[in-house]
Amino acid sequence: MAQLTIAIPKGRLEAETLELFAAAGLRLPAGRDPRQLACLDESGETRFIFVKPSDVPVYVEHGIADCGVVGRDVLFESEADLLQPLSLEIGSCRIAVAAPADLPENGHSMLRVATKYPRIASRYFGERGQPVEIIQLSGSVELAPVLGLADCIVDLVETGRTLRENGLEVTEVIAESAAQLVVNRASYQLKAAVIAGLISALKGVVLARSGTGVPPVSHAQDARST
Ligand code: PRP
Repeated sequence: MAQLTIAIPKGRLEAETLELFAAAGLRLPAGRDPRQLACLDESGETRFIFVKPSDVPVYVEHGIADCGVVGRDVLFESEADLLQPLSLEIGSCRIAVAAPADLPENGHSMLRVATKYPRIASRYFGERGQPVEIIQLSGSVELAPVLGLADCIVDLVETGRTLRENGLEVTEVIAESAAQLVVNRASYQLKAAVIAGLISALKGVVLARSGTGVPPVSHAQDARST
């Protein structure tokens, strides 16, 4: 029986996350079929589950997973009540407003904003007192201004290539994002020793990689406070 269950985000952060865990001593068995969505590590003491990034907070908040790895972009958007003990210093990117270089007058009374992050976008423009219409999409958000569905987007920018390829540019940076280790509040108490061991091992890898010996910036403990 596994002592710990860890939710791994499929997609952009997956490979780097698994490398980090392997360096911390938690390795997937060789030859795992990527379609297998739950599997034990080599020691049999840790179970990895593979879920969509936006579902990581759900699994961890409900205690199905004790821990998880997720980008701060997802945590900003989520209302899950999670502990965030460690920044993993991988998957660095920005959450930004982007628009066509030559943004025309839209003929509408409100700025139309397409995004996968409706809460982040509403909060950002709300704090500036700017009325906006939020158009929620699930992906390929950059298409929306190109095709006239929106005036601008709020989206994640990593290399900036998707923006460039679609004739958009960053107009405002909302926040920096990177992957965080998140922990279920009850697990943190009930499995204190094993989770402390995991945090310590991951912190060691993060510090060794940074080469600075400076501990990674620890972010707010409560995801909802970010
Ligand atoms: C993300 C994001 C951008 C793109 C940014 O999309 O929403 O579209 O990556 O990366 P870049 O700056 O390196 O080009 P993702 O790949 O997750 O796919 P999606 O559009 O289906 O959400």
